[in-house]
Amino acid sequence: MPTDASVNVRAGLNSRHRLKIGLFGANCSSGRAVTRIAERWSGSWADCKRLAQMADDAGIEFMLPIGRWKGYGGETDYQGATLETITWAAGLLAHTKRLVAFGTVHAPLIHPVVAAKAMVTADQIGEGRFGLNLVCGWNEDEFRMFGVQQRDHETRYDYAQEWLDAVKAMWSRGDEFDFDGAFIKLKEVRAKPKPVGGARPYIMNAGASPTGQAFAVRNCDGLFISTQLHELDTVAAAVSRVRQAAREHGREIEVFTAGVVTCRPTRKEAEEYDHYAVVENADIGAIDHILAMRDVTPDNYSAEEFAALRRRQAYGMGGVRMVGTPDDVATVLASLSDGGIAGVALSFVHYIDELPYFCAEVLPRLERLGLRNKA
Ligand SMILES: Cc1cc2nc3c(=O)[nH]c(=O)nc-3n(C[C@H](O)[C@H](O)[C@H](O)COP(=O)(O)O)c2cc1C
Repeated sequence: MPTDASVNVRAGLNSRHRLKIGLFGANCSSGRAVTRIAERWSGSWADCKRLAQMADDAGIEFMLPIGRWKGYGGETDYQGATLETITWAAGLLAHTKRLVAFGTVHAPLIHPVVAAKAMVTADQIGEGRFGLNLVCGWNEDEFRMFGVQQRDHETRYDYAQEWLDAVKAMWSRGDEFDFDGAFIKLKEVRAKPKPVGGARPYIMNAGASPTGQAFAVRNCDGLFISTQLHELDTVAAAVSRVRQAAREHGREIEVFTAGVVTCRPTRKEAEEYDHYAVVENADIGAIDHILAMRDVTPDNYSAEEFAALRRRQAYGMGGVRMVGTPDDVATVLASLSDGGIAGVALSFVHYIDELPYFCAEVLPRLERLGLRNKA
């Protein structure tokens, strides 16, 4: 029977690079830039497929989608058109050779028997390259859309534990079994086929709360932590806390973070494009809606704080902002790696237009810094 250890076959997302690079959010219209510009990211299947093939050829390790069921409104209905993530991953896996495609799966919304089989199907299509990003959900309006009551924060992760235990059982057990949890009760379960090669898919989580992170260190191979450009000096301590916590459970975990990139030959060009895309043309209606969902309104913040939060939300919902020359971007990535970050999930305003320059200019710099091997 495959055990947790068997994931080692795929550990490190099959990567030989010290700093792994992925693309984040391409399955959603506008990606992660809350912008009104006409050339914003479409999120269409044709564009996703082209992007994945481009990324695969360049040696990018993974594509991470956002599990999003309902747009954020505003003039553009930001992230209003999204491709369902397991089927999206399956399609990308059929059209690529090396990269790992993740599904971002809402445990409380997708029945574990359906999810386990859909993920195995994607894994079979990708010959072992499917990855799971497990999320518990954070947007009430999505739960209303499903007619599902969102559980309180702690119980959400109790449920996720059972969901994942059930999925792992289906991925590994050859016998017919019952699953008798507090929330999930399954009878006479049979689940065939299994993930490829007797090894389960790489499992990622992005819990930010103590409960979310405790869940990740107990169960996952990778955890996203959030950081920002001005906090890079705190990354090493955060990474070592997470890794130490995992070791207390006899496990190893890789720590990832997310960021946005606008890379141009000069800093001026990069700043100007950033200003044009996510300041002058920010979709303020969508931004304010996202902030209000988190109880961030002009009533509970000063005008200055609120403007800063709007600005942050406009591109990448926070995360590390890398706007500058190839040297600037490579320097930030190197500093994340120095802090122990194993990989970064990057977004671009227009992924296809901007990825070639990043690959041509930033990747070789990372090679010279010893963070990436030659493609
Ligand atoms: C890189 C990253 C990706 C995430 N992707 C999603 C997503 O696609 N869908 C979603 O509902 N939540 C997503 N989240 C939210 C997290 O799963 C998590 O709920 C959030 O960070 C709050 O942490 P907590 O659940 O521990 O309170 C993401 C968070 C990060 C940092």
